[in-house]
Amino acid sequence: MNKTLREAIIAGNWKMNKTRPEAKSLIEELKPMVANANCGVVICVPFTNLETALQLTQGSNIKVGAENCHFEKSGAFTGEISADMLAEMGVEYVVIGHSERRQYFGETDETVNKRTRAAIEAGLKVILCVGEMLEDRENNITEELISMQTKIALKGVTRDELKNVIIAYEPVWAIGTGKTATADQAAEVCGFIRETIAKIYDQEAANGMTIQYGGSMNAKNAAELLSKEDVDGGLIGGASLKAPDFTAIVNAANEG
Ligand code: PGA
Repeated sequence: MNKTLREAIIAGNWKMNKTRPEAKSLIEELKPMVANANCGVVICVPFTNLETALQLTQGSNIKVGAENCHFEKSGAFTGEISADMLAEMGVEYVVIGHSERRQYFGETDETVNKRTRAAIEAGLKVILCVGEMLEDRENNITEELISMQTKIALKGVTRDELKNVIIAYEPVWAIGTGKTATADQAAEVCGFIRETIAKIYDQEAANGMTIQYGGSMNAKNAAELLSKEDVDGGLIGGASLKAPDFTAIVNAANEG
């Protein structure tokens, strides 16, 4: 992390977990535990928990995000939620292009770009996920892939709008597998993403961008990952579902 240049953000990604009563008890437990954080704290929750999360986090330092949004403003898109609907509720963040959406729900670099632009236009902050599959890493095309995902996702996003974009580097092979990227691997790709941003925009824009690592980040490995200059926080799946585990990661970011 480099907190003088950019904000460090620890974001939970609850995925398809927690009923409303479960969400309520997790948030109530978490609120006092992270109240003194000196990094950004975000919880990205299922649509059904957004209202609960917004109510319970009022007046606290916890920000609320959704896990996806559609790119059209409204219309005949059964089962979808628009960025405007989220913004109107008071939601601040939205995760876009998570690898689970790419793998299981037909998300492509093009639809990631459309969603990113729609979310920015609605006034949301985007946590844009990029990451390679294991075979990409083995074929030594990680950088090409990350560069392509980043460039396509940000097509049409202006330098000014980039302030509302966070990138989460999530190697697909590390998600939910317990197999974390080493701190050096995470730092290498986060640094590469920063170089890519510098090429598309400029160095100042790249220096100011929050670039998170995600993939089996937990209480034990967080401090080492966050000790890397280019790793500005984390997108946390499994470990965000338990208040003490998530808090330990927030504490690691506080100290870094
Ligand atoms: P994980 O998930 O921490 O459970 O590996 C991270 C993510 O998918 O955002």
